[in-house]
Amino acid sequence: RKKVTVNTIHRLHQKRTPITVVTAYDYPTGMIVDRGQCDICLVGDSFAMVALGYESTASLTMDEMLHHCRATARGCKKAFKVADLPMGTYQLSPEQALASSFRVIKEGHMEAVKMEGGAEIAESVRRITQAGIPVMGHIGLTPQHEHALGGFRVQGKTAKKAEKVLTDALALQAAGCFSLVIECVPGPVAAKITSLLNIPTIGIGAGPDTSGQVLVIQDMLGVFDRFMPKFCKIYGQFGTAMSQAIHQYVTEVQDRTFPDPQQHTYPMASEEELEEW
Ligand code: KIV
Ligand code: NA
Repeated sequence: RKKVTVNTIHRLHQKRTPITVVTAYDYPTGMIVDRGQCDICLVGDSFAMVALGYESTASLTMDEMLHHCRATARGCKKAFKVADLPMGTYQLSPEQALASSFRVIKEGHMEAVKMEGGAEIAESVRRITQAGIPVMGHIGLTPQHEHALGGFRVQGKTAKKAEKVLTDALALQAAGCFSLVIECVPGPVAAKITSLLNIPTIGIGAGPDTSGQVLVIQDMLGVFDRFMPKFCKIYGQFGTAMSQAIHQYVTEVQDRTFPDPQQHTYPMASEEELEEW
């Protein structure tokens, strides 16, 4: 498999081949996503919740993000590596957004950044892309705006609200985004936005008519089960499998069937050594 770049993403979009994205947040998950032949590996700030146990993504710091970016980058060789800018590290000004993006590339070893928001961040997107850093947008349900949105709820359900999502999408495209995550909007809204854009849309809870799909790794593998949105499909119950494996080990240690004296144990150098000992 060849290294995935922005050019690969562009080609997939032109050929109407769905673009695949899965999140990762450390060395093993970066490797797992890469070996699964995903096009894009996204260090999404959702790891604040699914891997660090925070209540929301709001408390995630840039240093925490960079720490996890570096670990993910060490495991992920072929997929295109994108990372979220944490809340508060890009909204102050285009200069702050650019400075944060440089950190994600230089210290986090990522290849692109993702930012939540619409027309209001267009100027920042312009500055970052002009500096040579690809930007992925994120519209619809934007978890960093949880309190302003009144919780995690479907966006753009009326024609008027859908129009606002479309306006934001067009502004982000004009500002230079190479792709756009559309989260939790009705299928027809994502479909129409996709058909009106020249850049690929990556849907999550946005129906089948986007240019690609993204899922959060802990959700799709059945590891994080505090809550599960309607749009998530679970491809494996690995949380249960891991707990069962741990419990089997606990039981075997307690009843002394592990470790096995031959299979899991080192012998001495020779019978003579054993006798002398
Ligand atoms: O943080 C994240 O995992 C994301 C994806 C859901 C797009 O932003
Ligand atoms: Na995110």
